[in-house]
Amino acid sequence: MKHTLYILSAIISVATVYATDIRITTDDIDLLLTTSPNGRLYQTYLGKKLLTVENLPWQQSTGSDNSGGEKGWEVYPSRGTDNLFDDALVIEHNDGNLSTRLYYQSHTQRDSETIITLKDDAYPVEVKLHYVTYPHENIITCWSEIIHHEKKPIYLSTYASNMLYLKDNHYYLTQFNSDWAKEAQMSTQELLPGKKTISSKLGTRVTMYEEPFFEVGIGTPPSEDEGTVLMGTIGWTGNFQESFEIDNAGVLRITTSINPCNSRYTLQSNTPFVTPQCIFTLSFEGVGQGSRNFHNWSRRYAVKEGMGSRLTLLNNWESTGFDFDQQRLTEVIHEAKDLDVDMFLLDDGWFGNKYPRNNDGAGLGDWDVNRSKLPDGLQGLVQTATTDGLRFGLWVEPEMVNPKSELYTKHPDWVLQQPNRTPYYYRHQLVLDLPNPAVQEYVYNTIATILTTNPQIRYLKWDCNSPITNNYSPYLGKRQGNLYVDYVRGLYTIWDRINTQFPDVYIMLCAGGGGRCDYKALSSCTEFWPSDNTDPLDRLYIQWGFSQFMPSKVMCAHITSWNSSASLKFRTDVAMMGKLGYDLNYGSLSPTDKQFCQQAVQNWKVWQPIVLDGQQYRLVSPYTSNHMAVNYVSSDSTQALLFAYDLFPRFRENIQSVKFKGLIPTASYRVTEENLMPNTSSQLPFHGKTFSGDYLMKVGLDVCTDNRMHSTVLYLRRD
Ligand code: GLA
Repeated sequence: MKHTLYILSAIISVATVYATDIRITTDDIDLLLTTSPNGRLYQTYLGKKLLTVENLPWQQSTGSDNSGGEKGWEVYPSRGTDNLFDDALVIEHNDGNLSTRLYYQSHTQRDSETIITLKDDAYPVEVKLHYVTYPHENIITCWSEIIHHEKKPIYLSTYASNMLYLKDNHYYLTQFNSDWAKEAQMSTQELLPGKKTISSKLGTRVTMYEEPFFEVGIGTPPSEDEGTVLMGTIGWTGNFQESFEIDNAGVLRITTSINPCNSRYTLQSNTPFVTPQCIFTLSFEGVGQGSRNFHNWSRRYAVKEGMGSRLTLLNNWESTGFDFDQQRLTEVIHEAKDLDVDMFLLDDGWFGNKYPRNNDGAGLGDWDVNRSKLPDGLQGLVQTATTDGLRFGLWVEPEMVNPKSELYTKHPDWVLQQPNRTPYYYRHQLVLDLPNPAVQEYVYNTIATILTTNPQIRYLKWDCNSPITNNYSPYLGKRQGNLYVDYVRGLYTIWDRINTQFPDVYIMLCAGGGGRCDYKALSSCTEFWPSDNTDPLDRLYIQWGFSQFMPSKVMCAHITSWNSSASLKFRTDVAMMGKLGYDLNYGSLSPTDKQFCQQAVQNWKVWQPIVLDGQQYRLVSPYTSNHMAVNYVSSDSTQALLFAYDLFPRFRENIQSVKFKGLIPTASYRVTEENLMPNTSSQLPFHGKTFSGDYLMKVGLDVCTDNRMHSTVLYLRRD
């Protein structure tokens, strides 16, 4: 025993002498790393910020092997030596050796960025780990950079962005399953020993079945206002994998990564491979605070024009589909003017002459205006919109091609297509070979020509309706393992060029609804289309799900005729929790409904800063009740908006009052009901009255009812 103690204290003193401690810190969080005596890098702590970081052990065993091996929480563990659980890095070296072992070399910490350099002791391979902290938002982004100097290429078969460790008795994972018209559906399960992954292999319309977000409740399931929760995502518009492995000692390791499936990447010498960013926060007050961390960070640092305003719009897709001509669209443009929105958005169906785009079976790839539908070209429509004081937006899907197109006839070698197999068409289309620079050039020029010829076009709806179904790139030849990664990089090259050349053009990210939703894409695009499903009941769940990670500012929400049994008011109140737009046959509305819409647009002009730039508080969950309520508080705390919905209440259900959050307890707020139908007045007993923030947050107001599909909007102004 004495002997053991002696060895232990010797180890600790060696560690104390030689350890390099690295503290990555925000206002509330500490992530601590340290080197072991033989120079490997370990995580020692991830949790609430410490007062001091002295005396942290350099090693926390995750194994039962006492032979002196360092089975700690290695920050970037690699395959082939002593790592017995998930890897961050797996390399096949030039000589066929499958092992890598990384040692700490050096690190720098400047402002909010930490860069740590690791090196293999036997092969010329180097990994730089990057961490950037956003102290006030309590967000940490991290990624890695792999480079080698071997004579010939090496092969990467696993290349994670990062790995994080947590230690507790219970962990609960909330994930966000999706499908077309059913995006971001939340479910929670306890993680048990072994491994769970959430991932996508779809290539392009990549988040169609799973959104790239995770919430890990530590000790207890993630809940809105209480408990510790790690919330993370990956900034990558391609295949991703987030894995959660509990080892034999009950330690959870979370690995965020490009999905290595079918992606054994050939890496040339001296060429850095930069992984996408893992973005995470740790909240000690439930997912509500974690969401606000993400919203505040993303608006300020991540999203294109995150601090700028957004354009309201009228889209023609739901009212016309492909069936329109110049006269019909001219009417729609005048309707947009009558509605007083900022922009008219022309959807699919405007292009193709030899193969006109009259349905989804032809024309993709031929981006010339259809002259028989629109004899005065795009310019004619743009001119009409400009005369009406409107901006103009345009639908494009430039990464795709229908085999029935002039582009495909001219360049059959520009599509992803298996050489020896019959192609599998998804929505009658094929995906272009974006790793090919000639194809990137073509896509960029297509968009640049449209925007240069029509400088009034201020907005693109960038769609992507097919996953990669034929994963062979004629351009890449024998390097097919690079396809999924180089595709995404090709897309980023195009977006970067567009943003550099046309910085004022906003892009809506769309992929048959919310099939593309990640923070890297949103650094090029100002917003995304969460779902083709605009039935307000379904939308409430979809918006609730996305709101966990995405601010209202990036979530387009349009009022349509889906579920016309829901009142126009109900549909409008739901859309007002996102970036408001219209996509309905406005001309066919009754005068009262038109008047209501016009008033709603005016209200929105005043409320936009509260919903899009304020703090969001989720109050009543549709997952656990028959109602839903959310309030937003303006950044200066002088105004707030409450949106409350009755979904499927039971007859004579016991209805609870709704308690606000985020108000100033000592301040007084005057409460008025807004967004009422013309010629009606509020029946609420508290309409026009003043309450303290304390009262509103502790006692609350009776805004919920037992009426189905009923909604209430309250506006609060501080006295
Ligand atoms: C996708 C989009 C829709 C619409 C159609 C047009 O499905 O999600 O909003 O633009 O394409 O084909």
